[in-house]
Amino acid sequence: MLMQKKILVTGASGLIGQELCKALEAQGHRVQGLARGSGPGCWDPSTGFIDTTVLEGVDTVVHLAGENVAQRWTRSAKREIRDSRVKGTKLLMDAMLDREERPDLIMASGINYYGFADPEVKDEQSPLGKGFLASVCRDWEATASPWPKAGGRLVMLRTGIVLSAKGGALAKMLPPFRLGLGGTIGNGRQRMSWISIEDIVAVYLRAVEDKALKGPVNAVAPNSVSGTVFAQELGAALNRPTWLPTPAFALRLAFGVMAKEVILSDMDIKPRALEVSGFTWRHLEIRDAFRSILQ
Ligand SMILES: NC(=O)c1ccc[n+]([C@@H]2O[C@H](COP(=O)([O-])OP(=O)(O)OC[C@H]3O[C@@H](n4cnc5c(N)ncnc54)[C@H](OP(=O)(O)O)[C@@H]3O)[C@@H](O)[C@H]2O)c1
Repeated sequence: MLMQKKILVTGASGLIGQELCKALEAQGHRVQGLARGSGPGCWDPSTGFIDTTVLEGVDTVVHLAGENVAQRWTRSAKREIRDSRVKGTKLLMDAMLDREERPDLIMASGINYYGFADPEVKDEQSPLGKGFLASVCRDWEATASPWPKAGGRLVMLRTGIVLSAKGGALAKMLPPFRLGLGGTIGNGRQRMSWISIEDIVAVYLRAVEDKALKGPVNAVAPNSVSGTVFAQELGAALNRPTWLPTPAFALRLAFGVMAKEVILSDMDIKPRALEVSGFTWRHLEIRDAFRSILQ
């Protein structure tokens, strides 16, 4: 039987947070969200405010908060994407270091750590890549590095494209695909490293319970797919044709650099640490993930 824990979750209102909080509660844990605000039980990374009483008696902190990256990267959007993660993590870290307890810290990061266009297969040993998001992931993770030095357990879940009908990349693609207007994105040769919402929640649950899991952990399914297969399988799951491609130049025109680093990203990431830990995926193949998510 699992020991009941008190778990504090930042970004609990987001795509992953909502599903994760439900799953943690279903396991009998006491879950408290740390949402942005200026009152009791809140924090605000933009002003440096945190109600530190929320940390009392906490066994695990799950840190998901961060400005959404799927937007046009204006100068102010880039500042917000970086600051929300780096200043948010620093605020949390300072508050945690001020206390005697050493709860486990499970934080989100991204496979963008490894860059956005590199044909080589990557695992957790692979070096930092190039690009804006790689530098954000580096600084985000580095801000939490005092935690293991202070004796706490730190897990950084470098997450791939989370597939859910309720939000994120897939939810944005669904309207055109449902109308039969979807198709391959870019040249279709790029590798897409994905994970189903059910599996990313299971990875967080595993990270909460498994004390042997530490450091960077790639949170992706073992089988990445090409952009062409992604579009074909999505169309097949929806029973719709996929012969209308979305050319890369149109995406770059609409979304600027974000299209290059996120939508058209070409990264083949392997989840070595999860494999070594004996984690079992519910969705190993994208076909099964789409069928289950869209049923
Ligand atoms: N979904 C993916 O495909 C994916 C892939 C790779 C990495 N990740 C990472 O995993 C984490 C969770 O992902 P998600 O998809 O659940 O994110 P999400 O739906 O965008 O939610 C993130 C949460 O962060 C808080 N937040 C939003 N803007 C913020 C800001 N400017 N400053 C501080 N907090 C802010 C919000 O919570 P409150 O309003 O309650 O404060 C929001 O609900 C994120 O850090 C994301 O970068 C996700």
